[in-house]
Amino acid sequence: MRRAFVVGHPVKHSRSPLIHGHWLAEHGIDGSYERIDVAPEDFGRFVATLREGDYAGGNVTLPHKEAAFAAVDRRTGRAERLGAVNTLWFENGELVGDNTDVTGFMAHLDASLGAGWEAGVDTALVVGAGGAARGIVAGLQERALARILVTNRTPGKADDLVAAFRREVGPRLETLPWDERDRAVAEAGLIVNTTSLGMAGQPPLDLSLAATRDGAAVSDIVYVPLRTPLLAAAEARGLRIVDGLGMLLHQAAPGFARWFGVTPRVTPALRALVEADISRA
Ligand code: ATR
Repeated sequence: MRRAFVVGHPVKHSRSPLIHGHWLAEHGIDGSYERIDVAPEDFGRFVATLREGDYAGGNVTLPHKEAAFAAVDRRTGRAERLGAVNTLWFENGELVGDNTDVTGFMAHLDASLGAGWEAGVDTALVVGAGGAARGIVAGLQERALARILVTNRTPGKADDLVAAFRREVGPRLETLPWDERDRAVAEAGLIVNTTSLGMAGQPPLDLSLAATRDGAAVSDIVYVPLRTPLLAAAEARGLRIVDGLGMLLHQAAPGFARWFGVTPRVTPALRALVEADISRA
Protein backbone atom coordinates (compact mmCIF):
# COMPACT_ATOMS: atom_id res chain seq x y z
CA MET A 1 0.00 0.00 0.00
CA ARG A 2 1.31 3.44 -0.91
CA ARG A 3 1.08 6.03 1.83
CA ALA A 4 1.05 9.83 1.72
CA PHE A 5 0.55 12.53 4.34
CA VAL A 6 -0.03 16.17 5.13
CA VAL A 7 2.33 17.57 7.75
CA GLY A 8 1.57 20.82 9.58
CA HIS A 9 1.13 22.41 12.99
CA PRO A 10 -1.75 22.53 13.64
CA VAL A 11 -3.05 20.15 10.99
CA LYS A 12 -6.38 19.11 12.50
CA HIS A 13 -8.42 21.36 10.20
CA SER A 14 -6.66 20.42 6.96
CA ARG A 15 -9.10 19.35 4.24
CA SER A 16 -6.36 17.56 2.31
CA PRO A 17 -7.24 14.10 3.78
CA LEU A 18 -10.82 14.57 2.58
CA ILE A 19 -9.65 15.48 -0.94
CA HIS A 20 -7.09 12.69 -1.31
CA GLY A 21 -9.39 10.16 0.39
CA HIS A 22 -12.06 10.98 -2.21
CA TRP A 23 -9.61 10.44 -5.07
CA LEU A 24 -8.25 7.19 -3.59
CA ALA A 25 -11.81 5.81 -3.37
CA GLU A 26 -12.76 7.13 -6.82
CA HIS A 27 -9.82 5.37 -8.46
CA GLY A 28 -10.00 2.24 -6.29
CA ILE A 29 -6.40 2.72 -5.17
CA ASP A 30 -5.06 0.77 -2.19
CA GLY A 31 -3.43 3.77 -0.52
CA SER A 32 -3.69 6.05 2.48
CA TYR A 33 -3.37 9.76 3.21
CA GLU A 34 -2.73 10.77 6.82
CA ARG A 35 -2.59 13.95 8.89
CA ILE A 36 0.67 14.31 10.81
CA ASP A 37 1.09 17.05 13.41
CA VAL A 38 4.75 17.99 13.82
CA ALA A 39 5.96 20.92 15.92
CA PRO A 40 8.54 23.18 14.22
CA GLU A 41 11.39 21.93 16.44
CA ASP A 42 10.68 18.34 15.36
CA PHE A 43 10.49 18.92 11.59
CA GLY A 44 14.12 17.90 10.93
CA ARG A 45 13.56 14.61 12.71
CA PHE A 46 10.34 14.08 10.75
CA VAL A 47 12.18 14.47 7.43
CA ALA A 48 14.81 11.99 8.61
CA THR A 49 12.07 9.39 9.26
CA LEU A 50 10.64 10.00 5.79
CA ARG A 51 13.93 8.81 4.36
CA GLU A 52 13.29 5.39 5.95
CA GLY A 53 10.81 4.88 3.11
CA ASP A 54 7.39 4.42 4.71
CA TYR A 55 5.79 7.12 2.56
CA ALA A 56 5.65 7.86 -1.17
CA GLY A 57 5.48 11.56 -0.27
CA GLY A 58 3.13 14.15 1.08
CA ASN A 59 1.97 17.73 1.47
CA VAL A 60 3.54 20.35 3.68
CA THR A 61 1.46 23.10 5.19
CA LEU A 62 2.00 25.96 7.64
CA PRO A 63 4.39 26.57 9.33
CA HIS A 64 6.76 24.12 7.58
CA LYS A 65 6.89 25.25 3.93
CA GLU A 66 10.24 27.08 4.29
CA ALA A 67 11.75 24.30 6.45
CA ALA A 68 10.72 21.76 3.79
CA PHE A 69 12.36 23.95 1.14
CA ALA A 70 15.61 23.76 3.10
CA ALA A 71 15.34 20.02 3.85
CA VAL A 72 14.84 18.54 0.36
CA ASP A 73 17.59 17.18 -1.92
CA ARG A 74 16.18 18.79 -5.04
CA ARG A 75 13.52 21.41 -5.92
CA THR A 76 11.46 22.29 -8.96
CA GLY A 77 11.96 25.71 -10.56
CA ARG A 78 8.71 26.96 -9.05
CA ALA A 79 9.71 25.94 -5.54
CA GLU A 80 13.13 27.50 -6.11
CA ARG A 81 11.57 30.80 -7.13
CA LEU A 82 9.19 30.92 -4.17
CA GLY A 83 11.48 29.66 -1.41
CA ALA A 84 8.69 27.40 -0.17
CA VAL A 85 7.73 23.75 -0.72
CA ASN A 86 4.22 22.29 -0.28
CA THR A 87 4.59 18.91 -2.05
CA LEU A 88 7.22 16.20 -1.45
CA TRP A 89 7.99 12.92 -3.20
CA PHE A 90 10.89 10.54 -3.71
CA GLU A 91 12.61 10.15 -7.05
CA ASN A 92 15.61 7.83 -7.47
CA GLY A 93 16.13 7.94 -3.72
CA GLU A 94 16.11 11.73 -3.61
CA LEU A 95 13.55 13.79 -1.71
CA VAL A 96 12.12 16.31 -4.22
CA GLY A 97 10.10 19.43 -3.35
CA ASP A 98 7.62 21.34 -5.51
CA ASN A 99 5.27 24.25 -4.92
CA THR A 100 1.85 23.55 -6.41
CA ASP A 101 0.08 26.55 -4.83
CA VAL A 102 0.85 28.62 -7.93
CA THR A 103 -0.40 26.03 -10.41
CA GLY A 104 -3.42 25.45 -8.16
CA PHE A 105 -4.30 29.14 -8.15
CA MET A 106 -3.83 29.53 -11.90
CA ALA A 107 -5.70 26.31 -12.78
CA HIS A 108 -8.65 27.50 -10.73
CA LEU A 109 -8.58 30.96 -12.38
CA ASP A 110 -8.59 29.28 -15.80
CA ALA A 111 -11.42 26.93 -14.81
CA SER A 112 -13.51 29.76 -13.32
CA LEU A 113 -12.94 32.53 -15.86
CA GLY A 114 -12.37 30.40 -18.96
CA ALA A 115 -9.17 29.97 -20.97
CA GLY A 116 -7.96 33.24 -22.47
CA TRP A 117 -9.42 35.36 -19.66
CA GLU A 118 -6.27 37.51 -19.71
CA ALA A 119 -7.42 39.14 -22.95
CA GLY A 120 -10.08 41.14 -21.12
CA VAL A 121 -8.12 41.97 -17.98
CA ASP A 122 -5.25 44.38 -18.73
CA THR A 123 -4.45 45.24 -15.06
CA ALA A 124 -4.43 42.82 -12.11
CA LEU A 125 -4.49 44.23 -8.57
CA VAL A 126 -2.91 42.00 -5.91
CA VAL A 127 -3.79 42.91 -2.32
CA GLY A 128 -1.20 41.74 0.24
CA ALA A 129 2.51 40.95 -0.01
CA GLY A 130 3.03 37.81 2.12
CA GLY A 131 3.93 34.28 1.06
CA ALA A 132 0.62 33.73 -0.71
CA ALA A 133 1.03 36.97 -2.69
CA ARG A 134 4.47 35.85 -3.91
CA GLY A 135 2.98 32.68 -5.36
CA ILE A 136 0.15 34.55 -7.02
CA VAL A 137 2.48 37.15 -8.56
CA ALA A 138 4.67 34.27 -9.80
CA GLY A 139 1.64 32.75 -11.51
CA LEU A 140 0.18 35.98 -12.92
CA GLN A 141 3.49 37.13 -14.37
CA GLU A 142 3.50 34.08 -16.67
CA ARG A 143 0.39 35.48 -18.37
CA ALA A 144 -0.06 38.28 -20.88
CA LEU A 145 -1.18 41.01 -18.48
CA ALA A 146 -0.26 44.62 -19.20
CA ARG A 147 0.14 45.54 -15.53
CA ILE A 148 0.31 43.81 -12.16
CA LEU A 149 -0.13 46.13 -9.16
CA VAL A 150 0.80 45.02 -5.65
CA THR A 151 -0.58 46.93 -2.68
CA ASN A 152 0.09 46.19 0.98
CA ARG A 153 -0.58 47.80 4.35
CA THR A 154 3.16 47.71 5.08
CA PRO A 155 4.62 49.29 1.94
CA GLY A 156 8.15 47.94 2.45
CA LYS A 157 6.91 44.37 1.99
CA ALA A 158 5.24 45.24 -1.31
CA ASP A 159 8.49 46.94 -2.41
CA ASP A 160 10.48 43.80 -1.50
CA LEU A 161 8.12 41.54 -3.42
CA VAL A 162 8.22 43.72 -6.52
CA ALA A 163 12.01 44.02 -6.30
CA ALA A 164 12.34 40.22 -6.10
CA PHE A 165 10.38 39.71 -9.34
CA ARG A 166 11.29 42.93 -11.16
CA ARG A 167 14.23 41.60 -13.15
CA GLU A 168 12.14 38.78 -14.53
CA VAL A 169 8.85 40.64 -14.96
CA GLY A 170 9.98 44.16 -15.83
CA PRO A 171 8.17 47.45 -15.32
CA ARG A 172 4.68 46.02 -15.73
CA LEU A 173 4.98 44.89 -12.10
CA GLU A 174 4.49 47.89 -9.77
CA THR A 175 3.66 48.73 -6.19
CA LEU A 176 0.56 50.77 -5.44
CA PRO A 177 0.28 52.91 -2.26
CA TRP A 178 -2.15 51.28 0.19
CA ASP A 179 -4.37 54.36 0.41
CA GLU A 180 -4.85 54.36 -3.37
CA ARG A 181 -6.36 50.89 -3.52
CA ASP A 182 -10.03 51.93 -3.64
CA ARG A 183 -9.27 54.18 -6.61
CA ALA A 184 -7.13 51.60 -8.39
CA VAL A 185 -9.92 49.02 -8.52
CA ALA A 186 -11.36 51.10 -11.39
CA GLU A 187 -8.39 50.06 -13.57
CA ALA A 188 -8.33 46.42 -12.55
CA GLY A 189 -9.89 43.61 -14.56
CA LEU A 190 -8.79 41.17 -11.86
CA ILE A 191 -8.58 41.85 -8.12
CA VAL A 192 -7.02 39.23 -5.84
CA ASN A 193 -7.11 39.18 -2.04
CA THR A 194 -4.03 37.26 -0.85
CA THR A 195 -4.39 38.25 2.82
CA SER A 196 -6.26 36.28 5.47
CA LEU A 197 -8.71 39.16 5.96
CA GLY A 198 -12.28 38.00 5.53
CA MET A 199 -11.53 34.61 7.04
CA ALA A 200 -13.87 33.48 9.82
CA GLY A 201 -12.78 35.27 12.99
CA GLN A 202 -10.88 38.01 11.10
CA PRO A 203 -12.11 41.45 10.04
CA PRO A 204 -13.11 41.82 6.38
CA LEU A 205 -10.66 43.23 3.85
CA ASP A 206 -11.10 47.00 3.77
CA LEU A 207 -11.46 47.45 0.01
CA SER A 208 -14.31 49.29 -1.67
CA LEU A 209 -15.54 47.80 -4.94
CA ALA A 210 -17.64 50.89 -5.70
CA ALA A 211 -15.42 51.97 -8.61
CA THR A 212 -14.98 48.55 -10.25
CA ARG A 213 -15.73 48.25 -13.92
CA ASP A 214 -18.28 45.89 -15.44
CA GLY A 215 -16.94 42.44 -16.14
CA ALA A 216 -14.11 42.64 -13.60
CA ALA A 217 -13.29 39.47 -11.66
CA VAL A 218 -12.62 39.27 -7.92
CA SER A 219 -10.67 36.38 -6.44
CA ASP A 220 -10.12 35.50 -2.79
CA ILE A 221 -7.71 32.90 -1.43
CA VAL A 222 -9.77 32.64 1.79
CA TYR A 223 -12.21 29.70 1.67
CA VAL A 224 -13.68 29.69 5.20
CA PRO A 225 -16.26 31.07 4.68
CA LEU A 226 -16.61 30.25 1.02
CA ARG A 227 -18.38 33.57 0.35
CA THR A 228 -16.10 36.07 2.05
CA PRO A 229 -17.43 39.61 2.58
CA LEU A 230 -15.28 40.66 -0.41
CA LEU A 231 -16.79 38.01 -2.70
CA ALA A 232 -20.31 38.78 -1.46
CA ALA A 233 -19.74 42.48 -2.29
CA ALA A 234 -18.40 41.53 -5.72
CA GLU A 235 -21.38 39.30 -6.39
CA ALA A 236 -23.77 42.08 -5.32
CA ARG A 237 -22.14 44.30 -7.96
CA GLY A 238 -22.56 41.63 -10.61
CA LEU A 239 -18.81 40.96 -10.89
CA ARG A 240 -17.32 37.55 -11.66
CA ILE A 241 -16.01 35.80 -8.57
CA VAL A 242 -13.32 33.18 -8.02
CA ASP A 243 -13.43 31.61 -4.56
CA GLY A 244 -10.53 30.17 -2.57
CA LEU A 245 -11.71 26.58 -2.49
CA GLY A 246 -10.80 25.82 -6.10
CA MET A 247 -7.16 26.71 -5.44
CA LEU A 248 -7.09 24.20 -2.57
CA LEU A 249 -8.58 21.47 -4.77
CA HIS A 250 -6.34 22.14 -7.78
CA GLN A 251 -3.10 22.39 -5.76
CA ALA A 252 -3.72 18.86 -4.48
CA ALA A 253 -3.79 17.14 -7.88
CA PRO A 254 -0.06 17.14 -8.82
CA GLY A 255 0.93 15.49 -5.52
CA PHE A 256 -1.67 12.75 -5.90
CA ALA A 257 -0.37 12.02 -9.40
CA ARG A 258 3.20 11.68 -8.05
CA TRP A 259 2.35 9.40 -5.14
CA PHE A 260 -0.38 7.23 -6.61
CA GLY A 261 0.32 7.33 -10.35
CA VAL A 262 -3.07 8.67 -11.47
CA THR A 263 -3.86 12.28 -12.38
CA PRO A 264 -7.09 13.04 -10.51
CA ARG A 265 -9.82 15.42 -11.60
CA VAL A 266 -11.38 18.34 -9.73
CA THR A 267 -15.08 17.54 -10.16
CA PRO A 268 -18.30 19.13 -8.86
CA ALA A 269 -18.70 16.05 -6.60
CA LEU A 270 -15.33 16.70 -4.93
CA ARG A 271 -16.15 20.38 -4.52
CA ALA A 272 -19.51 19.55 -2.96
CA LEU A 273 -17.85 17.17 -0.50
CA VAL A 274 -15.36 19.77 0.71
CA GLU A 275 -17.99 22.54 0.70
CA ALA A 276 -20.21 20.45 2.96
CA ASP A 277 -17.31 19.90 5.34
CA ILE A 278 -16.55 23.63 5.46
CA SER A 279 -20.17 24.54 6.14
CA ARG A 280 -20.21 22.07 9.06
CA ALA A 281 -17.16 23.73 10.63
P1 ATR B 1 0.86 34.51 4.01
O1 ATR B 1 2.22 33.88 3.95
O2 ATR B 1 -0.24 33.53 4.32
O3 ATR B 1 0.54 35.36 2.85
P2 ATR B 1 1.76 36.64 5.75
O4 ATR B 1 3.11 36.54 5.20
O5 ATR B 1 1.60 36.79 7.22
O6 ATR B 1 0.86 35.41 5.35
O7 ATR B 1 1.00 37.84 5.00
C1 ATR B 1 -0.20 38.30 5.42
C2 ATR B 1 -0.64 39.43 4.52
O8 ATR B 1 -1.89 39.93 5.05
C3 ATR B 1 0.30 40.61 4.53
O9 ATR B 1 0.28 41.24 3.28
C4 ATR B 1 -0.29 41.50 5.61
O10 ATR B 1 0.02 42.87 5.52
P3 ATR B 1 1.31 43.46 6.31
O11 ATR B 1 2.49 43.09 5.48
O12 ATR B 1 1.06 44.92 6.37
O13 ATR B 1 1.31 42.81 7.67
C5 ATR B 1 -1.75 41.31 5.34
N1 ATR B 1 -2.57 41.69 6.49
C6 ATR B 1 -2.76 40.99 7.62
N2 ATR B 1 -3.59 41.65 8.47
C7 ATR B 1 -3.93 42.81 7.85
C8 ATR B 1 -4.77 43.94 8.17
N3 ATR B 1 -5.45 44.00 9.33
N4 ATR B 1 -4.89 44.94 7.27
C9 ATR B 1 -4.22 44.90 6.09
N5 ATR B 1 -3.41 43.86 5.72
C10 ATR B 1 -3.27 42.84 6.58
